[in-house]
Amino acid sequence: MRDFKCLILAAGKGTRMESFEPKVLQPICGKPMLGYIIKLVKKIGIRDTIVIINNKSQGRQVRNFLGKDIKTIEQKQLLGTANAVNQARRLLKDYEGNLLILYGDTPLLTEMTTDKLLKHHVATDAACTLLTTILKNPTGYGRIIKNGLGKTKTIVEEKDSSIYEKVIEEVNVGVYCFKSKDLFLALKKVKANNTKKEFYLTDIIKIFYAQGLKIESVSTESTEEILGINSKNDLAKAHDIVRWRILSRLMQGGVTIMDPNATFIDEEAVIGKDTIIYPHVMIEGKNYIGKNCKVGPFCRIRGNCHIEDNVLIGNFVEIVRTSIKSNTKIKHQCYLGDAEVGSEVNIGAATSIDNYDGKKKYKTIIEDKVFIGAGVILIAPVKIGKAAVCGAGAIISKNTNVKPNSKVVGVSARIKHKKRK
Ligand code: UD1
Ligand code: CA
Repeated sequence: MRDFKCLILAAGKGTRMESFEPKVLQPICGKPMLGYIIKLVKKIGIRDTIVIINNKSQGRQVRNFLGKDIKTIEQKQLLGTANAVNQARRLLKDYEGNLLILYGDTPLLTEMTTDKLLKHHVATDAACTLLTTILKNPTGYGRIIKNGLGKTKTIVEEKDSSIYEKVIEEVNVGVYCFKSKDLFLALKKVKANNTKKEFYLTDIIKIFYAQGLKIESVSTESTEEILGINSKNDLAKAHDIVRWRILSRLMQGGVTIMDPNATFIDEEAVIGKDTIIYPHVMIEGKNYIGKNCKVGPFCRIRGNCHIEDNVLIGNFVEIVRTSIKSNTKIKHQCYLGDAEVGSEVNIGAATSIDNYDGKKKYKTIIEDKVFIGAGVILIAPVKIGKAAVCGAGAIISKNTNVKPNSKVVGVSARIKHKKRK
């Protein structure tokens, strides 16, 4: 998209979120909401993105999240959305093209809708094209006011609206395309004469209307994608919508999910065909699970796990930063952290890898065809060689290297020194 740049507004305090963390970094299914917007902008092919951040520690957190590839500009005083856009004036002073403006708290927007908006803006050669939707309960959103011919003439914010305007169901989503030059000229005319004493970006519409500039609008396919996330209640709603999007993508790809209502899988999971996810499973962060595995019920895969095909992970199993090769069974009440597990391994009930000594985490290697009996404790770092057997209840102490095909049994506990302070 050569004649489009994108501006994302993310400087707001997020007062209604009642959080110490920046609003736009609040996670939805394991990913900060701003991450969804950045991904969307990349998908629709806009290369040049600028994010407006505040000049407090929250702004620095947002900048750290974005990394070096995305430009950020600080908004010194949070004087409203028009003031936020105005921060990019200097950077865009010679820019003749179009600007897509997105709010950092509207992360559910789809590629299809955004694409439709951009295409409409270009096709109609409008000065502004805005995204709207019809809501049965429009509370909290800016209302779209039209003239007798059905053309948009202004947007009225909830706090400034009359009882007649409050019943209008068509709302401003907060997603706009502008001809950049027209926008920055009109921004000079925006005044803060409203209830919140803020400079509203939405006032551009009435300025354009008075100037006779062309204002177009496009409506969304679904209403759920417009959700503006202002509070923890909104965050929970967003979580549910994204969770269902993830689960339906996985089911469309051939994953069996026994009870979607009781399954929580983060955005970055990749799961192969015919894998069955039983109820009450959490799959958090970035994980790969191969084909034809069984996972759960009641199990937690905590991230950075790579699980190959035909693996059985049963109830009350927790796994983190672990790779497991094909045909391995870990069926009951186990904890595996920082481990490399081979193929055709059997890990007995209540086996636990003690990967953390209170200061550092250590690796465990379990090679192919190892048999681990019930209740074994492996104190990392340890290595269990190919086809070795660990008898039930064994405690394999730190730095043990169990040779291939050998058998280890017994409990190694003995008093070493007084309790650590
Ligand atoms: C805004 C719109 C409203 C629309 C709704 C959709 C305005 C005036 N109102 O209201 O019409 O229906 O979104 O969700 O635009 N921000 C800054 N700097 C500021 C103020 C805000 O960067 O000084 C950022 C915020 O971080 C946020 C976005 O702009 O990401 C929107 O601000 P917010 O205060 O949430 O606007 P709403 O009241 O939701
Ligand atoms: Ca908002």
